[in-house]
This record gives sequence, C-alpha cells and structure tokens, in this order.
Amino acid sequence: MPAELSPIDKAKFVAAKRAVAYVESGMKLGLGTGSTAAWMVRCLAERVQNEGLKVVGVPTSTRTAELARSLGIQVVSLDEAKWLDLTIDGADEIDPQLNLIKGGGAALLQEKIVATASDRMIVIADAAKEVAQLGAFPLPVEVIPFGWQTTKALIEETLVSLDVLNREATLRMNGDKPLVTDEANYIIDLHLKRIGNPRQLALVLNQIPGVVENGLFIDICDVVVIGHGDGRVQLRDINDGSAREDRVEFAPTDNIFADPDA
Ligand code: 5RP
Repeated sequence: MPAELSPIDKAKFVAAKRAVAYVESGMKLGLGTGSTAAWMVRCLAERVQNEGLKVVGVPTSTRTAELARSLGIQVVSLDEAKWLDLTIDGADEIDPQLNLIKGGGAALLQEKIVATASDRMIVIADAAKEVAQLGAFPLPVEVIPFGWQTTKALIEETLVSLDVLNREATLRMNGDKPLVTDEANYIIDLHLKRIGNPRQLALVLNQIPGVVENGLFIDICDVVVIGHGDGRVQLRDINDGSAREDRVEFAPTDNIFADPDA
C-alpha cells in the first residue's frame, strides 16, 4: 500500500474492499455516496476490469454516478433496475442495532430510496463511526425550499416533546448560499447530541409538511464492515447475529490508489 494513505483512508479502503467481495456477477447494485463509498466504487471497478465481473450500478448521487461511469461501471437508473440485490454505502454513525445516521454528504434521500429497494444493505466505515447511541453527529433532514423557515420552526417545536438532548437546527450552507441537494431541496441539520428513540424520531419527522426525508436509517442495514488502518476488518450481520474478523491484504500495485478524492 502506498505510504501516503492516512490510517483513516486505509481503514475506509479495507472496509470497502471486503464489502465488494460480497458482489457476484449478474448483481444489480446500489452505489453509495461519500469518501468510503468512493473507495467501494474503485474496488468494484477493479473487479469489473480484472475479473470481467458483470454488474450494473444505481448511483445515489451525481458524483457517484460520474465516478462509476469514469471507471467503467455500467450505470442505470433505479427505475430501469427496479429492484437491487445489494447496496453498499457509508454512514456517519452506526449504533449497536445497526441503525444509522446518514446524509453527511447530503445524499440521504437517494441513499434511503436505493437502500430500501435492495435485498441487502452493507455499510462500510472506519471504527470512529461506531457509537453506543446515535445523535452526536448532526441529523440531516431534507426539506423542500418552499417555506423552509416554517418547516424548520415546526421541526424545532416537534423536538420539544421528543427524547433528545439538544434542539438546535441549522440550515446547511454551501458558502453564502443554502446547500442544494440533487433533488433541488435544502438540508436542515439537527444538533441533537443524543437521540433516545431513533425509530420514533424518524417517523415523527417525516410527518411534518415540508420534510422530504430524514437521515435516520432504521432496520435498513443488514451487515456492517468496519475497517482498521492495519488491514483488519470486523463484520457484523444483524440478521443472523454473527460477528467475525478478517484481514484485507494490500496490493501495492493497485491502480485504485491513484486519486482517492472522489
Ligand atoms: C452521504 C452519506 C455518507 O455515506 C456519509 O456521510 C459517510 O461519508 P464518508 O464515508 O465520507 O465519511 O451519508 O450522504
């Protein structure tokens, strides 16, 4: 492995590489978004090139679509694919039940639609993403731009009766303008610090007019692959309760190390 990779990139890489070993020829795949998912797209492209693996990918963002196409992965829309065998994606937080916070990269809407339309979801991450309880990472909520300040006020009002530690809500910015998602919506980040009942919060948030979707992924993830900088990977399957540890070997000649910033 090239010396210039940071321990965190090594951890993301080994998690991605191990997860891609689950892919079989003929599969329809959901391709996640973010820096860890970008490693997964590179590892997948390597298998497509080296082994002639035949897969189609449904990307969860325009940037993942661009990366996948540029590396020779066949990209189709979800409507073309209809149902997927497997989605592999990153996460911002993972709790012991494999419930997640996602949306740090503002792609939560497509990510949730794609993961839900898959037989299985594998989440890949470095160990820092594992938490005892969700909520330290700000929870993203995608809202339509029309009346967003009213929607934000309604969200804050709703949070008063819910089991959270803090209730600050902020509009995510891109420079001096609101960040605009792939679906032309805004993101409101909820700085809750601790989420006592993620399932209830996910349901309640989606009832508020103007809210399109929230970044809580409840009962969607099947397997988590946690990577470490020394090549170890820990795998947990929530369905059969299994947990095991593996090791991913690095091939210094791998051309996927060329440009890790996707
Ligand atoms: C994008 C996401 C990402 O999967 C999440 O933010 C993790 O990103 P990274 O792998 O870069 O830490 O949900 O919307």
